[in-house]
Amino acid sequence: MKGIVLAGGLGTRLYPLTKVTNKHLLPVYDKPMIYYPIIALVNAGIKDIMVVTGGNNAGDFLKLLGNGKEFGLQHINYTYQAGEGGIAEALNLAAFFADNEKICVILGDNIIEKNIVNAVQAFEQQEKGAKIILKEVLDPDRFGVPVFEDGKIVKIEEKPKLPKSPYAVIGIYFYDAKIFDIIKTLRPSDRGEMEISDVNNAYIDMGEMTYEVLEGWWSDAGTFDSLVHATNLVAMTGANNLS
Ligand code: G1P
Repeated sequence: MKGIVLAGGLGTRLYPLTKVTNKHLLPVYDKPMIYYPIIALVNAGIKDIMVVTGGNNAGDFLKLLGNGKEFGLQHINYTYQAGEGGIAEALNLAAFFADNEKICVILGDNIIEKNIVNAVQAFEQQEKGAKIILKEVLDPDRFGVPVFEDGKIVKIEEKPKLPKSPYAVIGIYFYDAKIFDIIKTLRPSDRGEMEISDVNNAYIDMGEMTYEVLEGWWSDAGTFDSLVHATNLVAMTGANNLS
């Protein structure tokens, strides 16, 4: 399975911290934010990794990460997203890299406490389709939220005002090669972006989505509050670290 780290975007919710640099280069306790998703992939056994970046300071990723020696890698692939077209558009840039293999996609501002190796191995065994990971949160209205009927997910609602479950769909997703055909059918949402929740809904409609609930803590780090929350979690308990 290949890994794709999405680290583009303009980081407007963290302005002016992101006026002169990319959100994913900002510190979360003792490491640049982007280290955490890369470590999450490497610890789960995914060593073939592409970083999708964009906006300002894309060159700094190369300076920071190089060929990934610090993570025990011999090589990291990079690609560049010119605009602010959302997660699904960024992912499309990695289509040639995926080369019909299964992929694990991780958002560059998502930080987890524990190893996701079990989810990775479960998806290796899954014949086709996609897999998402859920975490119970106090503020699901900030995230993609699953709607359950008879214990099955029937849909994901993106940032619903009235969430129908207490779960967030975290920013770690597993897809088969059909994702790139699905992306071609998407239209921009009200916030002008191609939404990853629309990709997930397409898999749900095909009856090809599985899910699991994450063990350990999870935080995004894309707003002032979540950045300080993530920093405190890492400082207090430590994150999934290089083993
Ligand atoms: C994105 C996704 C959302 C998901 C979240 C996880 O939100 O759209 O479904 O729950 O990442 O961090 P965004 O960070 O773009 O607001």
